[in-house]
Amino acid sequence: MADTSELLVPPHHVAIIMDGNGRWASSRGRPRAFGHRQGVESLREAVRAAGDLGVKQLTVFSFSTENWRRPAEEVEALFELLRRFVAADLDRLADEGVCIKVIGRNEDLSDDLVKIIENAEARTAQNTKFKLVIAFNYGGRDEIVRAARRACRDSGGDLSGLTEAEFAKYLDTTDMPDPDLVIRTGGEHRVSNFLLWQAAYAEFVFTDVLWPDFGEADLKAALEVYARRKRRYGGVNG
Ligand code: IPE
Ligand code: IPE
Ligand code: MG
Repeated sequence: MADTSELLVPPHHVAIIMDGNGRWASSRGRPRAFGHRQGVESLREAVRAAGDLGVKQLTVFSFSTENWRRPAEEVEALFELLRRFVAADLDRLADEGVCIKVIGRNEDLSDDLVKIIENAEARTAQNTKFKLVIAFNYGGRDEIVRAARRACRDSGGDLSGLTEAEFAKYLDTTDMPDPDLVIRTGGEHRVSNFLLWQAAYAEFVFTDVLWPDFGEADLKAALEVYARRKRRYGGVNG
């Protein structure tokens, strides 16, 4: 039988909850930070593979507003990894046509980290081939509340005519399409405060594969599951 996988229509926007780094490291008797470092390798591979498979945008959850509950040492390791990822990969990603955007609550970040992020965004702002969105210090509820505050300020306090489309412009994801597919690795079946507004009609694929083990074949398998889904958006078609 012919290989039909090439004929699949890929989702435009894939979002990934990159979970399982800690368990991956613990099962090897290593500190959790070792799993996070290996997770960055999976992220590099996922960006490359997603582009090759025809995906146009990848949004990855790399630090949640609840992850501050972890030991300070682990939080520091996760912050350090973002810095190192930008330092090591920005030139290459910029050359490859990747537009980088970081979403989340940046008021909690140090000034120098905010500068690093702003530089990466400005440097790649004109790129259109592929979009990489890093959700860092991100929480869906926090994003919605921040958006509500800004909308309220702009309207002078009268939000009675506010539409969904107008409100969405205040979210960190302003002008981005909603995710078509959300993948969660690491075996848990929950959203953990990721893209609560934007994932309203996303398809979800859960896999037991731990994030450091996730590779191109796993991404392809998730896209194949997605391609067989019927999206109805509340209607009756299909
Ligand atoms: C995902 O891996 C990375 C972050 C949440 C920052 P975890 O660190 O949650 O790994 P597990 O779920 O404990 O294995
Ligand atoms: C979700 O994973 C957050 C990220 C992947 C960054 P968590 O490991 O923090 O989620 P819970 O605690 O299992 O819900
Ligand atoms: Mg986890």
